Amino acid sequence: MPEFIPMISEDEIKEKTREVGAKITEDYNGLDLVLVGVLKGSFIFLADLTRQIKIDHDIDLVGASSYDGTATTGQIVFTKQPDLELEGRDVLLVEDIVDTGLTLSKIVEFVQLLNPRSVKICTLIDKRERREVELSVDYSCFTLEKGFIVGYGLDYNERYRNLPAIYDLKL
Ligand code: IMP
Ligand code: MG
Repeated sequence: MPEFIPMISEDEIKEKTREVGAKITEDYNGLDLVLVGVLKGSFIFLADLTRQIKIDHDIDLVGASSYDGTATTGQIVFTKQPDLELEGRDVLLVEDIVDTGLTLSKIVEFVQLLNPRSVKICTLIDKRERREVELSVDYSCFTLEKGFIVGYGLDYNERYRNLPAIYDLKL
């Protein structure tokens, strides 16, 4: 039986999301903000974060997955491209968790080709141990050294995204 060890509570998530939302509200005042959520893991965080940002902004989604098991190749395929025109706009990519950073660095490269005015990164969790590429994470709610976590959008083989808080999964 898998074991779920509580890591981050609903209240802690709520509080941090409010803080990060306030910071984004301040930093993007007067800019043309588009939140671009990375499917699928970011969907719950994106839904909460957008409601904590008090300036007008648009929302889009991008989907990408590793080409195959060999994540080190950094090969990804896009399963969903942004629908909105991003040229000249201020894109903030919203991720559930940055691990090696390979997926997000490829997404950043791709979005850059669409000529936005700026591209920044906001992640719920910044997991440091296995980082393989230099990536500037501009906003993060929590940092984690290691471990595998689930809940609040984060999955293990597509399961447990519905858990309202974040748990360390012991298999
Ligand atoms: P990266 O390319 O290694 O940074 O991959 C990041 C992606 O791997 C995230 O968007 C998640 O889908 C998945 N991932 C990495 N660590 C975890 C974890 O601890 N729990 C759940 N998913 C994870
Ligand atoms: Mg995942």
